Amino acid sequence: MNRRQFLRLVYGASVALAGAQTISAAPFFFPVYTPPRHIRYFRAADEWDIPRRGVRMIEFSGPGRKFRAYMARTPGGLLVLSPVCSHLGCLVAWNDAKGEFDCPCHGGRYDISGIVIGGPPPRPLSRLPYKIENGSLMVGLEV
Ligand code: FES
Repeated sequence: MNRRQFLRLVYGASVALAGAQTISAAPFFFPVYTPPRHIRYFRAADEWDIPRRGVRMIEFSGPGRKFRAYMARTPGGLLVLSPVCSHLGCLVAWNDAKGEFDCPCHGGRYDISGIVIGGPPPRPLSRLPYKIENGSLMVGLEV
């Protein structure tokens, strides 16, 4: 291989490498459009069942299956919280004596607002959208 062939080879390899990097960076510069997910509301409880204090679990039918959630009366108002622990997805339970949600799997603990107060969970419990409509608590789920 003479010098000219060697330089052509190096040039070709560098062009190919630059092209590969450009292609791999394309999603960063041209992100794929993902349309906003649609939220549909499902009847979860009578308005009368909303607790004036503390926490109450609700079960309701959503898209294709039953769902659970917690209605939590906090100083800031009513919250509807997902029972799914943000660590690895176990279902938390309300501990009335301690006034907190406890996760049975790895000891995660959340306050009444779903804020992490102990254990490994990296994020608070998810807050579900809700509205009161015609005497019913309607809980929103992404569909
Ligand atoms: S799944 Fe809840 S603390 Fe690990």
